[in-house]
Amino acid sequence: MSGLASWPEPVVRVQSLSESGMHAIPERYVKPPSDRPSFTNETENHHQHVDIPVIDLTNLFGKHPALHEETVRLISVACEEWGFFQAVNHGVSHELMERMREAWRHFFNMPLEFKQEYANTPTTYEGYGSRLGVQKGAILDWSDYFFLHYLPVSLRNKSKWPSQPSSCRELLSEYGAEVVKLGGRLLKAMSTNLGLKEDYLQNAFGGEDIGACLRVNFYPKCPQPDLTLGLSSHSDPGGMTFLLPDHDVAGLQVRKNGRWITVKPVPNAFIVNVGDQIQVLSNAIYKSVEHRVIVNSVKDRVSLAFFYNPKSDLLIEPANELVSEERPALYSPMTFDEYRLYIRTKGPCGKAQVESLGSS
Ligand code: OGA
Ligand code: NI
Repeated sequence: MSGLASWPEPVVRVQSLSESGMHAIPERYVKPPSDRPSFTNETENHHQHVDIPVIDLTNLFGKHPALHEETVRLISVACEEWGFFQAVNHGVSHELMERMREAWRHFFNMPLEFKQEYANTPTTYEGYGSRLGVQKGAILDWSDYFFLHYLPVSLRNKSKWPSQPSSCRELLSEYGAEVVKLGGRLLKAMSTNLGLKEDYLQNAFGGEDIGACLRVNFYPKCPQPDLTLGLSSHSDPGGMTFLLPDHDVAGLQVRKNGRWITVKPVPNAFIVNVGDQIQVLSNAIYKSVEHRVIVNSVKDRVSLAFFYNPKSDLLIEPANELVSEERPALYSPMTFDEYRLYIRTKGPCGKAQVESLGSS
């Protein structure tokens, strides 16, 4: 992994650029025209009210069999058709969500020197970062982030978690535990609907030994938001993602039939999406869908992406039950450790990676 030991160029904090008051963004952040956000799309969405499904999870936890079944069915349809949904009544404390958001806003508002103590490297990506990928001269995204491991416990290094605000580490522990619980419940629902044993996906993920990490994204205000992206198009490499978006500032766009749909966050909801590993395990019945983030000139934005992942050294491959003569295995087996090296080296690349796994 020697190629990932350090960044190819000096790191520039996007937040510092934004705060410098410049009117034109540096060339490094200017996307080719085909990748730039097109604001016409967005206007059209507003007319058509197209958005990802919103699913109430109340009955997923309840005892009423018919209502439970209906909730499971809605999740399944969302995972097949969108790869995304917003979950409400998901069981995670709204107050805890709010406190996490505030704590991380506080962190990014701390002085640069404090944040620099957590500066990351591409070896593990843990800490304060400003790019994904190590390709010299790459066009960069308009965002900074903080990345940390939550599970396995052996990788949980609290000294690498922010010491300020003082509530941060405790909040993280509590938040992680709640989101992991939710993840387990959704894996059961997905397994059932795929026609697998209820604990199939959980076992494929390593049972109790799953991986989990958090990426907190900070998208500073941008003087030329129509030329750049906060996060380039990608699909999430892991299992499943729980995104806690910012309150009233939108930014996430999901690709649907070749168009970009801007997600309007529902209060207190998680935006849940299928990652590449579930696409592989389900033999592409469930889709990990491309998404990206647009920025704006008015308001910065904080989002927390919690990644619920398989244990990193297990081979992930399509479930036998979902492979037949008519539907052969679409992917060859690979561990998540090997898999994520790709995005960590090349940066966000749409769906190029999972497609490269195709067994022919
Ligand atoms: C991510 C991601 C979306 C957002 O971190 O993988 O897609 O809205 N984030 O920040
Ligand atoms: Ni993502």
